[in-house]
Amino acid sequence: MSEAAFTPRIFSGIQPSGGLTLGNYLGAIKRFVAEQGKMETIYCIVDQHAITATLPEPGTLRRNTRELAAGYIASGIDPEQSILFNQSQVAEHAQLGWIFNCVARMGWMQRMTQWKDKAGKNSQNASLGLFAYPALMAADILLYHATHVPVGEDQKQHVELTRDIAAKFNHDYGVAFFPLAEPVIEGVATRVMSLRDGSKKMSKSDPSDMSRINMTDDADAIATKIRKAKTDPDALPSEAAGLEGRSEARNLVNIYAALSDRDVDSVLRDVGGKAFSEFKPMLSDLAVEKLAPISSEMARLMQQPDEIDAILSRGADRARAIAAPILARTYEIVGMVR
Ligand code: AMP
Ligand code: TRP
Repeated sequence: MSEAAFTPRIFSGIQPSGGLTLGNYLGAIKRFVAEQGKMETIYCIVDQHAITATLPEPGTLRRNTRELAAGYIASGIDPEQSILFNQSQVAEHAQLGWIFNCVARMGWMQRMTQWKDKAGKNSQNASLGLFAYPALMAADILLYHATHVPVGEDQKQHVELTRDIAAKFNHDYGVAFFPLAEPVIEGVATRVMSLRDGSKKMSKSDPSDMSRINMTDDADAIATKIRKAKTDPDALPSEAAGLEGRSEARNLVNIYAALSDRDVDSVLRDVGGKAFSEFKPMLSDLAVEKLAPISSEMARLMQQPDEIDAILSRGADRARAIAAPILARTYEIVGMVR
C-alpha cells in the first residue's frame, strides 16, 4: 500500500486525567506546538480514554477536560491553526472504535504493556474499556487518516498496534483505505523520569508529588523539587557519554536541554565540571522562566470556562467534518447499509 497517497496529517491526544506534568509538556505538548504550521495538526482531549481505568467524578472529569484544554492553549496550541477538541463530542470515535474492536485480536491486546501495568494482578476486575483502549486509540488516529503521531516513548506500542489494525482492515477488505501511521518519538524528552527515581517515568499517578513538576506548580514548588531531586555525588560530565549509568543526572540534563531547545552535548559543553549544587539553581530558574507564563495563562483561561467550551465545540465541528466521510466510507467498505 502506498502511503504517499495520504496527505501528511498529525494527530495526537492526551487524557484529561488531571494534573499535567513536565513530562506531558516536554514529551508531548511542546512537541505538538512545534509541529503547527508544518502540516495539518489535530489535537484531542481523549475523555473517553480517561474513564477506562476508573470512573472519575463527573465534576472532576469536566474540570480536567477544561484544564487540559487550557494547558494546550496556554502552551501555544492555536485553536485556529490546529483542530483542538474533546473526543466524546465527535461520536465517530466510538463508532469506528467498535469496528476496530472487531478487527483487533484478543492476543494483540493482551500483549500491550500498558494494559499489563494498569490492570495489574487484578485484571479480572479491570474494565472492558481498559482492555479495548488501544482499539479506540487506533480509531482516534485513523478516523482522520493521520500519518504521523507524536507521542512519548510509552505510547509507541499503541501506535504500532494502530498500524496492525490498519493493515488487517486493509488486507481483510482488500482496500488501501487506512494509512499506516508512524509514531514520531523525537527529541531528548520522550521519557522524562521521576525526580526521585531515575528508573521510573515522571507520572501524574506517582504517589509522591516531589517526584514530578506539575504545570501548575509555582516558582517555590519548582525550586524545592529540583533542589531535592535525587542526584549522584559526581560533577557533571563534559559530554553525553559521561552520563552513562547516571540516570538521575541524565534526566536533569535532558530536562535542561529540552526546556532550552538545545541538545545534550551543547548543554554539557557549558555546564560540564559543575557540581549539582550549581547546576540545580540554573535548572530551576530555567524551568520557572518557561513554565510560569504557561501556568498563569492556564489559570486565567480556567476563569473563562465558557470561552474554553466554545473553542472545544468549534474544534469538534471541524474534526467531525473530516471524520464523518471517513467513517461513512468505512461503513460502506464493511457492508453496513446506510
Ligand atoms: P498521558 O498523560 O498518559 O495521557 O500522556 C500524554 C502524553 O504525554 C503521551 O504522549 C505520553 O507519551 C506523554 N508523556 C507522559 N508522561 C511522560 C513522560 N514522563 N515523559 C515523556 N512523555 C510523557
Ligand atoms: N493513549 C494515549 C496516552 O495515554 C492517549 C491517546 C489516546 C492518544 N488516543 C490517542 C495519543 C491517539 C496519540 C494518538 O498518552
